[in-house]
Amino acid sequence: MAWVTINRNEPVVDPKAPPVLGEAVRVKIRSFFDRYETKRAVLLPALHIVQDALGHVPWQAMVEIADLLEIHPSDVIDTISFYTHFWTHPKGEKVITVCRSISCEVMGGAAVLEELKKQLKIDEHETTKDGKYSLVTEECLAGCDNAPCLLINEKLHKHVKPQDVAKLLAEANNDRIAVPRSALFDASTLSFAAASKTNGALLGTTSDVREMREAD
Ligand code: FES
Repeated sequence: MAWVTINRNEPVVDPKAPPVLGEAVRVKIRSFFDRYETKRAVLLPALHIVQDALGHVPWQAMVEIADLLEIHPSDVIDTISFYTHFWTHPKGEKVITVCRSISCEVMGGAAVLEELKKQLKIDEHETTKDGKYSLVTEECLAGCDNAPCLLINEKLHKHVKPQDVAKLLAEANNDRIAVPRSALFDASTLSFAAASKTNGALLGTTSDVREMREAD
């Protein structure tokens, strides 16, 4: 991703702007004070509460959180910029997270990412004009044995190939259901299933594993 120059001389928060945190959100944040020794320790719960309420954590909210927790706004920014879970600007209705770790990289994850960028017409950390999708990359999604993987909201899609991208995006429920995958995935799954039926002895089973452990 290209470097972006930020002008630090321009204030990002208007001191006269009305508060963005409603009373219900403030009450919920304060309800955590008794659970921790310091107010500062409530920072992570506070960020979750605000993101749940507003969909993201705008600059103004960071200042208000800092005020509530009696810390400096820079402490809030330090924390929020560490966790990719938190958004400082509105995100799309669905977030596509492409794995950028080694297994997926080796299996062609970068080409999937490029195809997504092309079809969505956005770059990483951007949102489509219609607000439908945001695109990010993340480290391992814990699906390495089915690389390359991506998430659409919480739904993990495995063995995704660039040619699957159009089909994935066309499925309205792609954040809830599995979408038919590439021929490579289907072929390997089918051949494994066929081999299991015809020659179970060739394939390891849980009882084989137990026997191996007992033999150790
Ligand atoms: S490396 Fe991509 S899911 Fe683990």
